[in-house]
Amino acid sequence: MRVLLTGGAGYIGSHTAIALLARGHRVVVLDDLVNASEVALERAARIAGAEIPLVVGDAADVDLVRSVLREHRIDAVIHFAGLKAVGESVAEPLRYYGVNLGTAIGTLQAMAAEGVERFVFSSSATVYEQPGPLLREDAPVGIALENPYGRTKAMIESIVTDAAAADGRLQAALLRYFNPVGAHESGDIGEDPKGIPNNLMPYIAQVAAGERERLRVFGDDYDTPDGTGVRDYIHVVDLAEGHVAALEALAPGVLTVNLGTGQGATVLEVLRAFERAVGRELPFEVVDRRPGDAAVSTADPSRAHEVLGWRARRTLDDAVRDAWRWQSRNPRGYRG
Ligand code: NAD
Ligand code: UFG
Repeated sequence: MRVLLTGGAGYIGSHTAIALLARGHRVVVLDDLVNASEVALERAARIAGAEIPLVVGDAADVDLVRSVLREHRIDAVIHFAGLKAVGESVAEPLRYYGVNLGTAIGTLQAMAAEGVERFVFSSSATVYEQPGPLLREDAPVGIALENPYGRTKAMIESIVTDAAAADGRLQAALLRYFNPVGAHESGDIGEDPKGIPNNLMPYIAQVAAGERERLRVFGDDYDTPDGTGVRDYIHVVDLAEGHVAALEALAPGVLTVNLGTGQGATVLEVLRAFERAVGRELPFEVVDRRPGDAAVSTADPSRAHEVLGWRARRTLDDAVRDAWRWQSRNPRGYRG
C-alpha cells in the first residue's frame, strides 16, 4: 500500500516508516516539524534503503492533505500528528485541543473528499478512565480524564467512531499505545525530547549520559512490589510492527486494540535495567508523587494477538540497550 504518515518524522512515526518499508509498503510523510527533525527521516530512509518523501506542512490543512493524498495516490493514512506533552496540555489546553482535534478532523475530511478509506490512529492507554493492571479494550473510556491531552485522545476516538458509523466504507483502527520506549537497534534513530524530558526512559538516559544529575522517582508508596509506579513499556520497534499488522488487518468499521506487552515494570526496575546496560549505578532520589499518576497501567494484549496476529517480542532489556545506544551515539539527539 501507499501510506501517508502524518507526524511521521516524529519518534514513533520514523520507526513505523522503516517497518512499513521492510514489508514492501511505500511511505510519504506530512509533518510540520514542530517536534521533529528532517534528519530522523533521512536516517530512517537510509536504514530502510528506500525513499521517504517529506511534505512539510500542517495536517489540519484539508487542501494540503487532499493534494498529498492525490499526488501520491495514497491508500491509507496513519495519523501520528499531534502534541503529546501531558503537563503542557494542562498549561495550554486550547493549543492541544486545536492541534490534536484539528489535525484528526482535517485529515479525515481530506480522506473522505479523496475517497481514501483506511485510517490508523495513535491513541493512548491514557484514555482508560480507571488505569490498572491488564486493561482490556472494553474497559471504560471517557473524557473525565486527568488532563486535556488524554481528553483529546478520547474525543478523537469518538470522532473516528462517529465518522465510521456515518460512512460504512471507513476502515479504522484505534491503537492504544502503552509506554513506548527504546530505539531502532542501529542507534541511528530514537527519541529526541526537547528540553527536560517528562518521561522516565529519556530522563534516565540523560542521567546516564551525565546531562542530568539524578533521577527523581515520583513516589515509592504506591501499592506495587517496590512502591514505585508500574507501567507496560513497549519497544518502539514492536510498536511500529503493530502498526503494520493493524494496517493489514483493517476492515470496514472500527478496530480498537491495545499495543502493549502485558508485562509491568516498576520505576526502580527500569532504573536497574538501565544500570545493567550502562554498567554502573545511576543516582536517584525519591520525591513526592507526580499529580495525576496512576499506580499501575498495563495492557491485556490478547486482542492484538487474536485480531492482528501481533505480539511484542522485545524485552525491557532490549529497549534499554537500544535507548542507551541511541543516547550515547547521539548525545544531542538530531541536533548534531
Ligand atoms: P512526536 O512528537 O515525536 O511525533 C508527533 C509528530 O507530529 C511530530 O513529528 C510533530 O512534528 C508532528 N506534528 C505536530 N503537529 C503537527 C501538525 N499540525 N501537522 C503535522 N505534523 C504535526 O511523538 P510520538 O511519540 O512519535 O507520538 C506519535 C503519536 O502517538 C502522537 O499522536 C502521540 O500523542 C501518540 N502517543 C504517544 C505516546 C508516547 O509515549 N510517545 C503514547 C501514546 C500515544
Ligand atoms: N517517573 C519518575 N520520574 C520521572 C519520570 C517518570 O519516577 O522523571 C515515573 C512516573 O511516576 C511513572 C513512570 O515513571 O510511574 C512512567 O512515567 P512516564 O512519564 O514515562 O509515562 P506515563 O505512564 O506517565 O505517561 C505515558 C505518556 C503519556 C501517555 C501515557 C499512557 O507520557 O503520553 O503514558 O499511559 F498518555
